[in-house]
Amino acid sequence: MRILVTGATGTLGRALVPALVKAGHQVRALSRTKRESRGNVEWMWGDLFSGHGVPEAVAGVEAIAHLATSGRKGRGAVDIPGTRLLVMAAREAGIGHLLLTSMVGADRAPIGYLRYKLEAERLVEESGLGWTVLRATPFHQWLQQRLRDFSALPVLPVDPTVPWQPVHTGEVAARAADLLAGGPQGIEIEYGGPEVLDTAELTRTWLDAQHLRRACLRMRYPGRLYAAMRADLLTTDATPKGKITWQDYLAPPPPVLSDDFASEHTASPTSPATQPEQDPDRHVYGGDEGYERPTRG
Ligand SMILES: NC(=O)c1ccc[n+]([C@@H]2O[C@H](COP(=O)([O-])OP(=O)(O)OC[C@H]3O[C@@H](n4cnc5c(N)ncnc54)[C@H](OP(=O)(O)O)[C@@H]3O)[C@@H](O)[C@H]2O)c1
Repeated sequence: MRILVTGATGTLGRALVPALVKAGHQVRALSRTKRESRGNVEWMWGDLFSGHGVPEAVAGVEAIAHLATSGRKGRGAVDIPGTRLLVMAAREAGIGHLLLTSMVGADRAPIGYLRYKLEAERLVEESGLGWTVLRATPFHQWLQQRLRDFSALPVLPVDPTVPWQPVHTGEVAARAADLLAGGPQGIEIEYGGPEVLDTAELTRTWLDAQHLRRACLRMRYPGRLYAAMRADLLTTDATPKGKITWQDYLAPPPPVLSDDFASEHTASPTSPATQPEQDPDRHVYGGDEGYERPTRG
């Protein structure tokens, strides 16, 4: 199948592109940075905010995995207008399946960024296209980056009443690849990590893995989002769930590689596409053809 991946250079996109290639798909990858196409990955320049390059990107694909998001800055920019624009282009091109990635809790606690994700879900669900929404819990890499940012402080504020359910992007990518292969489901599917840890456990495990010593100050995080987390609105019991724990991610066991490289990547947490990595900025999933390490601004 030929599949367009938006957000292909992002944290999840860097795992999904090689997972789809290994599953035998032709991948068209969208980015606002020009990249050279290689092997089964065709890079296309496009911007979901301005709409430039979007009709070309959707032309001739059977399915779209819509991962693009604009994160902290100008959050609504891609998640709402960009999704609207993509939906219009996909309708025009007669795309059979649009899979949107979202966040667990978007429906239960539409606060801040989650509000944008819920609105993007609505746009996809009311698009008239075949659709699937895959809601994931926070990625290991994202949490690690937040802890790195915080570690500049001499004392780390931790709220033991706030739970997290970190998940590995390789496993989310494998789930997304399975859903794309299975066709539109017309439902929201939740996917979470194997364990729920409070902020104090999460921080302590990370500090130990980094061989860092920091004092931790217990406090109650303010705000509606943390209140929603405290009420367990951003975690999920849905199965299947990921197998790779936070500890596995931070201190991975030696990889066990199977000869059956292609079939294993979607099935097993020990497969190349699901390997925990120490440093996501340095790591290139499986060294796959067509994937180039994104440059960070
Ligand atoms: N991070 C998490 O912990 C987490 C947890 C659960 C669900 N999710 C969901 O998973 C998905 C992927 O998240 P992520 O963390 O992998 O994202 P990310 O690392 O922040 O990457 C964002 C991606 O969006 C693309 N993008 C941004 N603006 C764009 C624009 N105007 N036009 C086209 N592309 C644009 C970027 O591509 P270029 O810069 O190359 O153009 C980049 O590839 C999102 O739907 C997110 O809501 C994330």
